[in-house]
Parts: sequence; C-alpha cells; structure tokens
Amino acid sequence: LAPGGRGSLLAGKRVLVDAGPTHEPIDPVRFIGNRSSGRMGFAVAAAAAAQGAEVVLVAGPVALATPAGVRRVDVRSAAEMHTAVLAEAGAADIFIATAAVADYRPETVSPSKLKKTGGAIELKLVQNADILADVAALPGRPFVVGFAAETDNVEGYARGKLERKNLDMIAANRVADNIGFECAENALLLLWDGGREELERADKQVLAARLIERIAERYRPRGG
Ligand code: CTP
Ligand code: CA
Repeated sequence: LAPGGRGSLLAGKRVLVDAGPTHEPIDPVRFIGNRSSGRMGFAVAAAAAAQGAEVVLVAGPVALATPAGVRRVDVRSAAEMHTAVLAEAGAADIFIATAAVADYRPETVSPSKLKKTGGAIELKLVQNADILADVAALPGRPFVVGFAAETDNVEGYARGKLERKNLDMIAANRVADNIGFECAENALLLLWDGGREELERADKQVLAARLIERIAERYRPRGG
C-alpha cells in the first residue's frame, strides 16, 4: 500500500464523519466545551477520501483546513451537530463518530452578556442527546464506529460503550500527557464483537489510514 494509504478500499461507499469539540453557549461571549483539536477526525475523513469514499465531515469549531475531496458541514453546539449528522446518516454506508461531543449544555442561554455579581453563580446543566447511539438506533443504519477517550480502564469502559450503544466497532484511546487530545500522535485499541486489535502509537494521519483499512475489512452493509 502507498504511504498515506491511497487506494480504493472504500470506492463507491458513502462515509459520514463527525469531528472536533462542540461549544455549548452560556451567553453571547461564553461557552462550555471539550478539549479536542479535531485532528484525528479530520485525518479519518481524509483517509476515507483517499480510499475512494464519498465523505461528509460534520465539524465542530476547529481551526483546520477541509481535506481534499471532502464535503464539510460546520456546526457549533451538540444540538446542531445532532441535527446535521442525523440529516446525513440515512444516506451513509459508514458513520465514524470521532467528535468530542459535550455531554451537558446550560439549561438556559442568556441573550445578553452575563455581568459579574461579586459572588458565586450557579449554572444548571442538562444532558445532550447521544448522536452515536441515535444513529446506531436508526432503521437501515450505517455501519457504526465510535471512539472512546478514557483516562483509566480503557478496554473495560470502551467495550461497555460498544455493547450499550450497539456499535459495530469502537476505537479507544488513553488520554494522557503527549498523547490523544491536542497532540499530533495517538494510539488506538480497536474492539468489536469478539475481537480486538491494537494500533500502535503513530502520527494521527498514519493511524487514521490504518483505522480506515480495518473498517474497510470489517465493513458489512447493515441497512435495509
Ligand atoms: N458521543 C455522541 N454524542 C454524545 C456523546 C458521545 O455521539 N452526546 C459519541 C462520541 O463521539 C464517541 C462516543 O460517543 O464516538 C463515546 O463518547 P464518550 O464521551 O467516550 O462516551 P459517553 O457515552 O459520553 O460516556 P462518558 O463521557 O460518560 O465516558
Ligand atoms: Ca462523553
């Protein structure tokens, strides 16, 4: 295989990827968000396109250029990402959820900038819908690949998510210094029903190309 994994393993396949963090507004100038550069997800979208797939990338707020040949839809909040992903999922053969979606959003968004009160304030947070689980529950669902970033018990928590969210595959990574979030390198543990494979630490582009090869190998049409 050529460097960067250019080929035709996904020729004719429609691949949907979500990537980056989401920003949950508090007021017009503030938000709650997750640490995520979007680099792993953009690399996954580029690697799928390099294997001949037709790729749609739903991107949260990131500072990254759109990979060649990829159609990009920009969103900010988890609710916007949910709407955009569900609108595209029906046409997708494969969905890869790399986004670091905020689990909670402020219950109310102030229309004007909040001013300091001189004391503590309370912010009530409510849970966001799970985009990945909702796609996996669609009739005629695509082949669904999740991600899991964990600080401990990586394999145990990731396998729990694989089963609970009814995924076809999950790519787990340990979050620690100089690996995972906001850095160039990552390592992944792939899990599926009855199997596992470790993809050793590498540049995110190299790792994304390897992940796309494994997804192409394991891909089976699910939809009706
Ligand atoms: N995910 C999603 N929508 C959410 C939360 C998570 O689509 N509202 C997806 C992520 O994109 C990822 C997978 O679910 O592919 C796992 O995300 P993670 O945050 O590890 O799992 P959670 O189910 O949110 O559990 P927790 O954060 O409590 O570990
Ligand atoms: Ca989460």
